[in-house]
Amino acid sequence: MTLTAPVSPRTADRWPMRLPEPRGEVSALVIDRLRDGGGRDGVRGLDPAAASDAARRSGSLLDDEDLQLALFVLFELHYGGLEGVDDRLEWDPELLAFRGELERAYEAELRERIPQPHATRDVPEALFALVETADDGPGLSAWVERDATVDQVREVLVHRSIYTLKEADPHSWAIPRLHGRAKSALVEIQADEYGGGRPERLHAEIFAKTMRVMGLDDRYGAYADHVPALVYASMNLMSMLGLQRRLRGAIVGHLAAFEMTSSIPCRAYANGFRRLGLGDDAADYFDEHVEADAVHEQLAAHDLAGGLVADEPGLADDILFGASACLTVDGRLWGEVRRVFEAGGSALRKALP
Ligand SMILES: [Fe+2]
Ligand SMILES: [Fe+2]
Repeated sequence: MTLTAPVSPRTADRWPMRLPEPRGEVSALVIDRLRDGGGRDGVRGLDPAAASDAARRSGSLLDDEDLQLALFVLFELHYGGLEGVDDRLEWDPELLAFRGELERAYEAELRERIPQPHATRDVPEALFALVETADDGPGLSAWVERDATVDQVREVLVHRSIYTLKEADPHSWAIPRLHGRAKSALVEIQADEYGGGRPERLHAEIFAKTMRVMGLDDRYGAYADHVPALVYASMNLMSMLGLQRRLRGAIVGHLAAFEMTSSIPCRAYANGFRRLGLGDDAADYFDEHVEADAVHEQLAAHDLAGGLVADEPGLADDILFGASACLTVDGRLWGEVRRVFEAGGSALRKALP
């Protein structure tokens, strides 16, 4: 009997992720509560007031290691789950109330800090204008193309792994919340992200291969203790927008901005991998996105965002808010990584093994 080789030797045991180390009082409370389970005698309850108090005290939720990690861990219950944590806690009212306070504060901070472009023109046009102005700064991709060392490339993959090992999942929450042209466009994009029926071409799977080729651990969350708050701020933004129907305009805008700023940087990343002699298997993920995202950009701007606003004109401002939030949060993260690289340092909280 011939056995077909599995997609990856580790696909089955890549999830659930291990509970990370707490980074402060609030993440410690959440992680303890998850580890202890729910409803047993003697288990300490979680008071949502502790979340809102901590959010009020935080100078910047975007950079708050403790609160971003707490949010991430709570959202993870909706994705691949957490090792040793009861799956039923996904819908635990106390955990949802606690997370709700953190989400409220995070959304309020973003709405206050992020320039909110108003949809004075048609939305696809406004998206292209937004992306153009946001693209001005020298990005991390240019650094990887020309200057990065192999260690810096590995570090970039580690930062990206929190999202990319489940690439596309947060935007899929929007599918049942859309209709007609917008839904059809989103499903077309997501079908590519999920490999178009070829499991080995799932974008998350191609990325996992890149990690293995680069000698990195491809299990989900393997570097959860290494990455800084901004990585979680970026991931939590997507989860928060994707999981609330009220914010469907914003998750659509987020995806549009994401796709519209991917193709050219991915070419630069692929060039950087080849400059370093890392080979086709290492560059595959980025090669795949050069063409795919050039197509996704058009689909996302015109059919997804344009289709949604044609159906629901009241969502125009939220579409642009989501796009602007994506560009601001991710721009801050990757800009910070580049600044640290230029200074010869690392943005990781601890060195890679
Ligand atoms: Fe992708
Ligand atoms: Fe894409």
